[in-house]
Amino acid sequence: MASLSTLFSLILVLSSSGVFYTAQSKTFWGDIQVLKQLKYALQNASVTPGSCLSSWDFTLDPCDNLFSEKFTCGFRCDVVVSGSSRLTELTLDQAGYAGSLASSSTWNLPYLETLDVSNNYFSGQIPESLSNLTRLRRLALSGNSFTGEIPSSIGSLSNLEELYLDNNNLEGPIPSSLNKLKRLKRLEIQINNLNGHIPTDLGSLTDLYYLDISDNAITGGIPASLPNSLVELSARNNSLSGFLTSESFRDLMYLQVLDLSYNKLTGSVPIVLFEIPSLEQLSLSFNELSSMEIPASSSSYNLGSESGLIAVDLSNNGIEGLLPSFMGMMPKLTSLSLENNKFTGMIPTQYALKTVFPEEDVSAFERLLLGGNYLIGGIPSPLLVLKEGSANVRLGDNCLYRCPLRKRKRSDRFCACVVCLTYERWKHVRFHVWRSSILIWNNSQMLLNQRLSLPLLSVP
Ligand SMILES: *[C@@H]1O[C@H](CO)[C@@H](O)[C@H](O)[C@H]1NC(C)=O
Ligand SMILES: *[C@@H]1O[C@H](CO)[C@@H](O)[C@H](O)[C@H]1NC(C)=O
Ligand SMILES: *[C@@H]1O[C@H](CO)[C@@H](O)[C@H](O)[C@H]1NC(C)=O
Ligand SMILES: *[C@@H]1O[C@H](CO)[C@@H](O)[C@H](O)[C@H]1NC(C)=O
Repeated sequence: MASLSTLFSLILVLSSSGVFYTAQSKTFWGDIQVLKQLKYALQNASVTPGSCLSSWDFTLDPCDNLFSEKFTCGFRCDVVVSGSSRLTELTLDQAGYAGSLASSSTWNLPYLETLDVSNNYFSGQIPESLSNLTRLRRLALSGNSFTGEIPSSIGSLSNLEELYLDNNNLEGPIPSSLNKLKRLKRLEIQINNLNGHIPTDLGSLTDLYYLDISDNAITGGIPASLPNSLVELSARNNSLSGFLTSESFRDLMYLQVLDLSYNKLTGSVPIVLFEIPSLEQLSLSFNELSSMEIPASSSSYNLGSESGLIAVDLSNNGIEGLLPSFMGMMPKLTSLSLENNKFTGMIPTQYALKTVFPEEDVSAFERLLLGGNYLIGGIPSPLLVLKEGSANVRLGDNCLYRCPLRKRKRSDRFCACVVCLTYERWKHVRFHVWRSSILIWNNSQMLLNQRLSLPLLSVP
């Protein structure tokens, strides 16, 4: 009788642990070691009840008990080699885990394809031993508190397709060994303290389509050779300097988004940027650019009409010269900001017509921001009949001589004029111009320009 009940309870144990039903496959011992090292390297208090890691109970076999109460989540074992289950994916939940990424571990998981510990409180260095994960395709360490440099040994992860190290406290240079990651498609290292230059040979990453290095302290110029496969390139808010050369951008035939705002770029805006057929968003705002390359007059029409640009922001530079009229011919352009530059001359009629009476199949300007320049002349008449709420048009802080809506009653609050105070180049000419500071509204209400409070003056 006793032996029968023992047998019975043995069957119970076997069936509850799953061994009874599933194949004989058991997790490879080395893979279990890495799981243990990962769990025990954490601060115990950060392993909260209900989290994946709190369920890991190594008295049972991990792969055989995955998705049971003992190993609710956190990894996958999709490969069986010589009768042993191997870890293929380690994706932790965002449960607030704190601690190091087990620097002591050899990270010997030769079948792992995904390692994702994003959005926790991991700290310390990124261990060199991660380079043992030779089949890794996706490495995501985003949104933690990792410090130190990006280990150059990451360059030996030759199967890596996606690398996310963004939103940490990493410092030092972008290792040039990244150019060995020939399969890399997506590289996100934004929001760290990285410095040094952009590696010059990134151009050899022929599959890279998404590159975000923004919000770091990267210096130097834009490399002459960028991956031709790029669809999105963001390097905003760094300390990039030097000229934008045509060589860098000429062959980027798939580029849709280019954001180089908040840097220290100088020189002129190359016309090649407007010739990239796929480009939809271009932002070069908050740099030190001083001019725009002028298209040959024969190509000016094509430049405009064949462009796919939707939003262009060249604001807050020191760009001189006339407003580029070809931008008024871009069929899809709905947002154009050229604010706070040194543009002169008149507002092109094309801009006004595109805002108020766009041609068929042409998108109207929804934002046309030209304030803070040295524009002169009248406000094009179409803009005077612009319906409030139809577009956000800013012309204030220029040298336009006519108040747009002078005849309106005061109660309309639409108009005021003050003297054009600054225009260095013409200072010796004793120029008589009025500065109109108005026509500023968004969808719901008119936004008054500060300068409206200045008294009406005239210069002799
Ligand atoms: C965390 O818990 C494990 C087992 O429960 C224990 O061995 C280890 O000493 C603890 N570590 C810390 C830092 O408290
Ligand atoms: C990779 O794993 C091996 C054990 O197989 C270990 O000896 C080696 O130190 C590991 N590499 C790194 C960089 O830690
Ligand atoms: C630029 O990055 C710094 C941190 O590096 C941040 O504090 C600042 O807000 C960012 N500026 C912009 C305009 O995004
Ligand atoms: C218009 O501007 C006001 C004041 O700045 C703001 O509160 C409101 O959200 C803006 N409306 C839109 C549609 O942008």
